Amino acid sequence: MLFPTKTASIVTALLAAGSAVSASSAVGKAKSTFSTSVLSSTASATSSAASEVVSLAQWATLGVTQYPNIFDPNAVDANEVCSGYSLTGLKTTKTGLYGRLKLLKACNVYGYDFDELSLIVDYQSAERLNVQIRPIDLTYVYVLPETLVSKPGIDTFTPFIDSDLVFAYTASPFSFTIVRKSTGEILFSTAGNPLVYENQFIQFNTSLPKGHFITGLGESIHGFQQEPGANKTLYANDVGDPIDANIYGVHPIYVDQRYDTNTTHGVYLRNSHAQEVLIRDESLTWRLLGGTLDLYFFSGTTVKDVITQYVSSIGLPNLIPYWSLGFHQCRWGYNSSNRLSEVIENFRKFNIPLETIWTDIDYMDSYKDFTTDPYRYPLEKFQAVLDDLHANHQHFVPIVDAAIYHPSPLNESDIYPVFDDGIAADVYLKNPDGSLYIGAVWPGYTVYPDWLASGAQDWWTKAMVDWHQKVPFDGIWLDMNEVSSFCVGSCGSQNYSQNPVHPPFDVGNPATTFPLGFNMTNSTDLQYYNSVWYTYTHTPEPSTTASTTTSSTTVSTNPMNTKAPGKGNINYPPYAINHQQGTHDLAIHAVSPNATHADGTPEYDVHNLWGYGITNATYNALLEVFPGKRPFIISRSTFPGSGRWTGHWGGDNSADWAYMYFSIPQALSFGLFGIPMFGVDVCGFNGNTDMELCNRWMQLGAFFPFYRNHNYLGAIDQEPYVWESVAEATRTVMAIRYEILPYYYTLMYEASKTGMPALRALSWEFPDDKSLASVETQFLIGEAILVTPVLEPHVNYVKGVFPGVPDEVWYDYYTHEPVSAGPGENITLSAPLGHINVHIRGGYIIPTQKPAYTTTESRKNDWGLTVALDKAGSARGTLYVDDGESVAVEDFLVVDFVATQGSLYTFPRGTYDVCQPLASVTVLGVDSKPRVVSLGESKISNFTYVNNTIFVSNLQALTSAGAWAAPLVISWV
Ligand code: GLC
Repeated sequence: MLFPTKTASIVTALLAAGSAVSASSAVGKAKSTFSTSVLSSTASATSSAASEVVSLAQWATLGVTQYPNIFDPNAVDANEVCSGYSLTGLKTTKTGLYGRLKLLKACNVYGYDFDELSLIVDYQSAERLNVQIRPIDLTYVYVLPETLVSKPGIDTFTPFIDSDLVFAYTASPFSFTIVRKSTGEILFSTAGNPLVYENQFIQFNTSLPKGHFITGLGESIHGFQQEPGANKTLYANDVGDPIDANIYGVHPIYVDQRYDTNTTHGVYLRNSHAQEVLIRDESLTWRLLGGTLDLYFFSGTTVKDVITQYVSSIGLPNLIPYWSLGFHQCRWGYNSSNRLSEVIENFRKFNIPLETIWTDIDYMDSYKDFTTDPYRYPLEKFQAVLDDLHANHQHFVPIVDAAIYHPSPLNESDIYPVFDDGIAADVYLKNPDGSLYIGAVWPGYTVYPDWLASGAQDWWTKAMVDWHQKVPFDGIWLDMNEVSSFCVGSCGSQNYSQNPVHPPFDVGNPATTFPLGFNMTNSTDLQYYNSVWYTYTHTPEPSTTASTTTSSTTVSTNPMNTKAPGKGNINYPPYAINHQQGTHDLAIHAVSPNATHADGTPEYDVHNLWGYGITNATYNALLEVFPGKRPFIISRSTFPGSGRWTGHWGGDNSADWAYMYFSIPQALSFGLFGIPMFGVDVCGFNGNTDMELCNRWMQLGAFFPFYRNHNYLGAIDQEPYVWESVAEATRTVMAIRYEILPYYYTLMYEASKTGMPALRALSWEFPDDKSLASVETQFLIGEAILVTPVLEPHVNYVKGVFPGVPDEVWYDYYTHEPVSAGPGENITLSAPLGHINVHIRGGYIIPTQKPAYTTTESRKNDWGLTVALDKAGSARGTLYVDDGESVAVEDFLVVDFVATQGSLYTFPRGTYDVCQPLASVTVLGVDSKPRVVSLGESKISNFTYVNNTIFVSNLQALTSAGAWAAPLVISWV
């Protein structure tokens, strides 16, 4: 059967035309106003005073045309016109150096030069060197407070003389170089280019070796490597995953892996302003729109060292609750609590594990946070669904949007206590004149929490605690927190009396795109959907009223990017970054840079931190909602250190093969950024997916830490049970995911202790092999599992490399056959639809548990061990177990495994009690059939030997005290 629910979803989409749209797909087919007849029933029911719902005027969203500097052939090159500084009065300090930099000659290129700067060099630890440069006069300079974004400190335990990094300098014009003492290599050098330090523009350059291999610098949809020619804009942006552009989060960190010396170092710039980084053949140029230079150099020397050094200095990721490793199902368009329970039941019917059901904005009353739609999600019914879910050990995660609805003062029944409480606590962003900053998002005109306001945390915590009493959620999905607003500038403090106002673009239209190759195999479906789209676009518009919206921002196409002293021209800075939105105005799809925080800080200085702020506040709130339990949060906008509180999903990707491909480099980058709990919208968000893509993606997604299927409002259904083949492929792969959950959880634990992410690049594990540098079509889970997914349509094979051969041996997960591949050889593997290639690395032991429908049930099942022997017949592994939910873990268990010379030893230690027995042991790579297999003194007769693999099962009776109650020795001779 083809797309059994297509009619229903298209009809839903058409009916819900007033509901919402991806912020990203923004200006689509423009209908300027909507009558209540096409709004959801909620809107008409809750806004009785207004017979028509007006739409925000399109022009209020457009902004002032900016000419991105990097595209302007006539742009002045600061390196050519500026002279830099000269260093004077250099002194040694206890931990490094202090000096003053005096401006040689003003150039005032994109702002006004500071006359005098201070230079502070700190050898902070054996692996970390900090270089800070900032104006002496800080009156107008934003210095990022340590209380807001942690600042790596001086390690009092390690004498800095041990540092492998050396700071060298030239006094005039000032430049500095970071040298690796042990090899003499230059890691970073500003020599040859002046330092430019102006009130709205800071620039420095470093040379790079030819043929460099740079990774990091996010967030963007890009290959793993930042190759020469890459221009990275770092400005948090509500946009639907364009390729090579700034998106939701900001991570100013790069890793420089050097194959000629086999060393790696990292460079982190702790700064919250808009930035641009240009990577060229032999140089890297960094530009900032303000703040201070606070640079950290990490010495490595391996790439894994750099990652752990960086992540531990910004804040180690939190340990996730065990249940969050189960499968998550979401969609925009679960239009009622009935639909939600239908989906939950369908998963059960098709026997596809469902751990967590998510709701998008559909559940809200007119898209207001902490409310439920009385018609679509009547509270009692909704609660009954959630009670059932919880009784079955399943979970629920709702979306919470960043903006807070502003009720209309003209409508007495428009009551929103969450808003009123925020007014009472004075927690919203203001305009420079002290009036409320008004934005517009899904509910209409909104205000924005100011995370720098002193009452914001308590107000947010109360909102969460109160709401949880009504809607017992288990985690929170934070969206639109870049932070997004559809008006350019404040929408105007007088306008909110028109609420609820509709977004200025069409929403919920049928998705019209299909994955690459769809027309070749699904031409009938394509015709069908094209005809639906035709009908949709030719349906007469509902009756409209002219929009009466006004905005406080003057719209012009003239450049306004003039220089100004002091804080400067913060709405239109003289240097225009390439912000990926319409006219490139910084305020498009964002709260304007002149919105003002409680302490007077303009949003200009901290725009990139808004998502970070709400995440921190939500984490703290959830600690109150669930005392002692680990909060589970997935946030769209992130910043260095966000991983302490949240995971991240890749945002509004599209249902196309390219986005499945890019999910791998995006995941690897987020590992590097200290946010290991990462996944993307499996099967694709924007556009329609198809059976083949969804099949492949459900299988690939199963190996990412965060595994969630999510879909756009107007797209066809894409739950894995919609197609029989996808259901089957999903069951197959979920059996693997749930079987290796103990291994995965152990890796997430390791990430929380060391910063090393679970999902890893081949180049991290095999840093000596340059041919693996930019492999992004395969990845490792920990050190032991290699995943080689199909990333293109209409093929039944995949190509992959097997790192480390011939020294390493890789076993097929399914057949246990060792792979026969030469060094660097890209071999072809069979990969029919429904099969994903997974290999286990010899030398590793994987702890497993029999899979069940939920993680709670899986945790109650018997244990197993998969022992993959290396060429010398040895293997090792570790297991970490705890209750899977406590913040302060008191009881835990660590089990080390070692296999050598025909015996497997287990070494448990810790106090967490595991009562399930060890049921089976599978040993791969055993040359000949053993005569005897024994566990301790007991001989085991019922083992089998096939394909050089020993299968030992039914061990329960011998381990009934619990698999890890005591050390075990299992031998085969
Ligand atoms: C944003 C989110 C998307 C969500 C939609 C509606 O576009 O990124 O995941 O479905 O808003 O809430």
